[in-house]
Amino acid sequence: MKQEARMAGTGAPEGGPRHVAIIMDGNGRWAQKRGRPRLFGHHAGARRVRDIVASCPDLGVKYLTIFAFSTENWKRTQTEVAGLMSLFRRYIMKEMQEFVREDVRVRFIGDRFRLEPGLRKLMEETEKMTAHCARLNLTIALNYGGRDEVARAMRLLARDVAAGRLDPEAVDEQTLPRYLDTRVLPDPDLVIRTSGEARISNFLLWQSAYAEYEFIDTLWPDFTPEIFARLLAQYGARDRRFGAVGA
Ligand code: FPP
Repeated sequence: MKQEARMAGTGAPEGGPRHVAIIMDGNGRWAQKRGRPRLFGHHAGARRVRDIVASCPDLGVKYLTIFAFSTENWKRTQTEVAGLMSLFRRYIMKEMQEFVREDVRVRFIGDRFRLEPGLRKLMEETEKMTAHCARLNLTIALNYGGRDEVARAMRLLARDVAAGRLDPEAVDEQTLPRYLDTRVLPDPDLVIRTSGEARISNFLLWQSAYAEYEFIDTLWPDFTPEIFARLLAQYGARDRRFGAVGA
């Protein structure tokens, strides 16, 4: 059976997704269920990030993109926002060497200019330090919103038109992706959202036009590499037609 075939030398299901994007939802509810503050859930969520990143190479995932903070998340309390920013700083500082050791190339997408300079500097350092890494491409979406990304891309595109570098008549489906934050990444094959909510919350709007979706009830801090592997195997059994007629 298709979903039981394995890629040579790995435990990865054959025909599994190359690029997986995850909306890591449910940290707050996970903490609430334990009578703890929301930040307790975010810390547990960060440990899950580590496990899932570590599991990718063996599962045949070459690109992993995770939604860490959206352009809308600024609406949360000042305590939660500050706690998350401090968690990101600590996570990056702690993992930086590990990424290099594990050959993980890290990139950040989103509007980084609203983030505080200390965090921004760490992000840039991590991108530089891991620029030669190739086993896994980890992209962390921080202050990211799909509409904001498209608006920023349009601004850059419009500048090129105004400067005479781009002919407006030549703008087609291939043009805009060259201006997006994700310009060097392939489109996601599979988008997973945890916690039972079935919406995409402004994540990779352009890029996910033909992605497969998995909405699962598990809260992010309970998401394990075993659950991840099961979803990847399910993906292997799907018939992606990209608008064409199946065989
Ligand atoms: C959504 O759950 C989660 C977030 C807004 C933050 C995601 C952050 C992490 C998983 C922590 C660490 C990330 C990195 C990259 C180190 P929620 O708070 O909206 O949960 P709720 O819907 O149950 O309230």
